[in-house]
This record gives sequence, structure tokens and C-alpha cells, in this order.
Amino acid sequence: MDASTAVGGNGDTAATATTAALDAPEAGALYGGHEHVVVLDFGGQYSQLIARRVRELGVYAELAPYDTPVAELRARRPIGLILSGGPASVYEPGAPPLPAGLLELDVPVLGICYGMQAMARALGGRVEPAPVGEFGRTQLEVRDEGALFRGLPSHQTCWMSHRDAVFEPPPGFRALAASPASPVAAFESSERRLYGIQFHPEVTHTPHGRDVLERFLRDVCGARDSWTPESLVARRIAEIRARVGDERVICALSGGVDSSVAALIVHRAVGDQLTCVFVDHGLLRKNEADQVVAAFRDRFHVPLVAVDARERFLARLRGVVDPEHKRKIIGEEFIRVFEEAARRLGEPRFLVQGTLYSDVIESGGAKGAATIKSHHNVGGLPEDLRFELIEPLRDLFKDEVRRVGEELGLPDRLVWRQPFPGPGLAIRIVGGEVTEERLAVLREADAILQDEIRAAGLYRELWQSFCVLPAGLRTVGVQGDGRTYGYVIVVRAVTSEDAMTADWARLPYDLIERVAQRIVAEVPQVNRVVLDVTSKPPGTIEWE
Ligand code: XMP
Repeated sequence: MDASTAVGGNGDTAATATTAALDAPEAGALYGGHEHVVVLDFGGQYSQLIARRVRELGVYAELAPYDTPVAELRARRPIGLILSGGPASVYEPGAPPLPAGLLELDVPVLGICYGMQAMARALGGRVEPAPVGEFGRTQLEVRDEGALFRGLPSHQTCWMSHRDAVFEPPPGFRALAASPASPVAAFESSERRLYGIQFHPEVTHTPHGRDVLERFLRDVCGARDSWTPESLVARRIAEIRARVGDERVICALSGGVDSSVAALIVHRAVGDQLTCVFVDHGLLRKNEADQVVAAFRDRFHVPLVAVDARERFLARLRGVVDPEHKRKIIGEEFIRVFEEAARRLGEPRFLVQGTLYSDVIESGGAKGAATIKSHHNVGGLPEDLRFELIEPLRDLFKDEVRRVGEELGLPDRLVWRQPFPGPGLAIRIVGGEVTEERLAVLREADAILQDEIRAAGLYRELWQSFCVLPAGLRTVGVQGDGRTYGYVIVVRAVTSEDAMTADWARLPYDLIERVAQRIVAEVPQVNRVVLDVTSKPPGTIEWE
């Protein structure tokens, strides 16, 4: 959440329930007519975050593109609409307009940042570039509580990211608040139930953001529900049961949280009609395969076929150095192994996929986004497979999936596992071929890093932490009075919200020292440890 990269008119560069609840499916259609809010996405950086925050407040929220026809929105019957921020300036040609008739729907609307400005402009307010933009923490002075600031402090900090500002609210609207560069930082028309705020209530840097959203949802929209991800899962379980009947289902289990939770949900629905296939391609981390098998087969009693394909993958990777070539080989081989397993299981009709809501949104919305690496997602299978898909997580965000995973009793290690790329350690052995020896070196070094990161209580704070082995590189060292010529291990740790951008993690020096000492002491082939201090951009998280 760093505004320093801001461009354009606004800084938004595009870019408990009990387990019993899971057993008790509710009836009813999914969200048509049911209490929910639609977040119209104007290309803001935080649009998904807005939807997540609304859900955290117990109200189901879905995203929709800004140009969703108003007739479609009306048919969905949301209790409220939220207009997101976006990178454009409302007065520029080509700026995304509000859908015609949107403000006449007689549904409460909250415009955030660009959303507020677009609303102001559409209704005759004055939006212009401000002499200075506001990026980051900003002081907000609330002069009139209106509905949004009821009972909140008159002086508060908020987080802004904009260059344009509203100078006059539309006729009939009341200005509620101001900040140094935003003469109208919030406005409302209680008669029309239209509201605007210049700041971002969805980011944690706005301490009262949650309160403002809650006032909009509860007081203005009249939300009464107490939505939880578990309630949605309960509904999904019933649907899956009805759809599958007595057919068979297969799931490619990777050990990641998404495929694990998806598999458990489907197992709840159809029991042993589900078989999970776990492909050990030999590119996993230390003990990883055993942990997945122990959790699913021994603890949850999910039928599980573990395929030991280590030699096959290694053989196909022999002599391969190019990263994209590696990914392609691993992806193809994975599909082959999986298809063979499916054939042995008598070709099940259904396939479980751990597709998340963010994948659904991104595949529909990322127009013109550059492909930097081919994330073919090993474990994700091509669309032309003969299976019918079951995607129990299609409506859930990652943090909601974790919550459901905890509820289902998935071990912490799986629920909170940091992302791990499908091609595994193969893309962390760089500049030389993947060999058994190199995999063993990397696996040992990586296990030490994980161990120390966990012991320091940092595992969950980091988006990812791992080791990289520059395979073609050996350096001179001195150990035990003797000269060594060994491998270098790179320590990579990053913080990130979504992997689109990442910051190198400022690990404590004593932790770095312990990791380096242990790796050199415990992995004899390594005599040097270095730390990667590159953020993304310009680097990517992985080294290839
Ligand atoms: P980069 O390296 O592009 O990675 O910054 C962003 C996120 O994607 C993961 N990643 C992959 N995941 N297959 C995957 O399933 C891949 O080929 C792949 N390459 C990168 C990476 O670990 C990070 O979380």
C-alpha cells in the first residue's frame, strides 16, 4: 500500500460458525435477491479489498465490472452499491463513466475515491485537479457527521491516494468532511441515499474505515444478515451433493490450502465417491509429501492415491535450464500422470478445482495484463479435459478459505502454508539443470530456513520465504582450515498482499545470521549464504 508509484488522476494504479454449520446446508439460490452488496470495480487497486471488508462485516459482497448494465444490477437486487476507486481522472476522455441510470436505481450508493468523483461529476458537482495530491496518511476533519460518521471522532486519520478532488458537492448534497487538499472529502444526500468519501475505508491505515463502512451497510442499507464463509460453504455442500448424485469425483491435491479445502468440502458432500490424487513430482520440499498424505489419508480418511512420479519428472528435466521450458515440461508431465491416475480410477465424471473468487474476477477482468511468466499452475489442469468441474471456492477470498479450512480441522501447517509454485523447487534451481543432488541441497537449506522463520514467529507475516540455488555457481570458502569450493544459497523472503507487488522482508539480523550459520554447518555442499534484497518490481518473487 505504497502510494509512491501513483500515476494519473488518482493514486489507484490499476493494477464462527461451528463445524455444525458446515453440516447444515441452507436452501435457496445464491445471491439473487438474497442480502448482498455489489462493488462496482473502476479498476482500483483495492476493489477486492472493499468486497473483503464488507464480508468481514457480515454482509455478502460481490464485485462487478463498472460497465455492468443497470438492468442486470437491478435484477440482482442488491441492498447497496459501492463504487470503487480507479486510476483515471473523471474529466479525461475515456474515463470510465457511471452506468447510465445507476444513481436512479433507488439503491444506496457509496462512492469511494474515483467512485465519489464520478458520482460528483455525474450529478453536477465540481471535480478538478487539486494543487497537490494526497498520498498516504491524511488528517480528516469531520464537520457534519451525517450518516457515515455518526459517533466517530471529528478529527481522524485516513488513507488517501488521489490527485483530483471534489471542490463542490452536487446540488442538494451536504459536504461532511474536508482534508488539507480535499475541500469536500465526504458528502451525502440522505434523501437520495447517495454518499461519497475521498479516502479509502478499506485499507487498515484508515483506523475508522471499518466503522464508516459499517454505518453505510447497517444504517443506510439496512443490512441485517450475519454472513459467514461457512454459511456459503454449507450451501455449496448441498449443491455439490445434488449435482454429483452417485457419480465419482477426482481431485488433484497439491498440498496447498486451496486444493486441500476444496477437497475436504467435496468429501463432506459426497464422502468416498471422491478420490484425491497427489502427484509427488520430486520437486517438493522436505517431508512435504508425507505431511499431505498423513493429513488426508490418515486423519480425514479421504481416499487418496499418491503417485510417486519422481523419476519420471527428473528424467524429463535432464539437461533443461530454460525456466519456461521447465514449466512447460512439468505442466505436461503433470497432466499425463494425472490422466493415467484418472484412467486407473475408471474416469470419474467430475473434477474438483480450488479456483478462488480472485481468480474468477481476474480471469474476467485483467484486460491486457502482461504475462510475465507462464503460471500454468501445475495442479491446475487445462480446460479441455473431459471432466465437469466442481469449484467449491469460486465465491471465496483466500482469507475466507483459510477460515473454512480451520473450521474443517485442517492442520495449521496446511491452512497457513505460504504459496508454493506448482513447478516447485525446479524453478528455484537456476542457471543449471535440476538434478537429484541439487534438489537435496536445496531441500535441506530450505528446511533450515523454514525452521528458523517459524521459530522466530515470522512464518505467517511473510508472503513467502524460501531458498534459491544458483546451480552453475560455486564460490571459494574456508572451513576447518581447508579451502572449499561450494554452492551458494540465496535466502529470499518477501512481504506482499497479493504477489502482484512485493517488498523484500527486513528479517532480523540475528535470524539471518542463524540461518546462514546453520545452512553452512548442516549442508556440507554449501559454503556461502546471501540475502536477496530486491523488491517486486523490479524483481519477481521467484528467481525464474
Ligand atoms: P513471481 O515470481 O512471478 O511469482 O513474482 C508470483 C507468485 O506466483 C508464484 N509462482 C508460480 N505458481 N506456478 C505456480 O503455481 C508457477 O509456474 C509459478 N511461478 C511463480 C510465486 O511463488 C509467487 O507466489
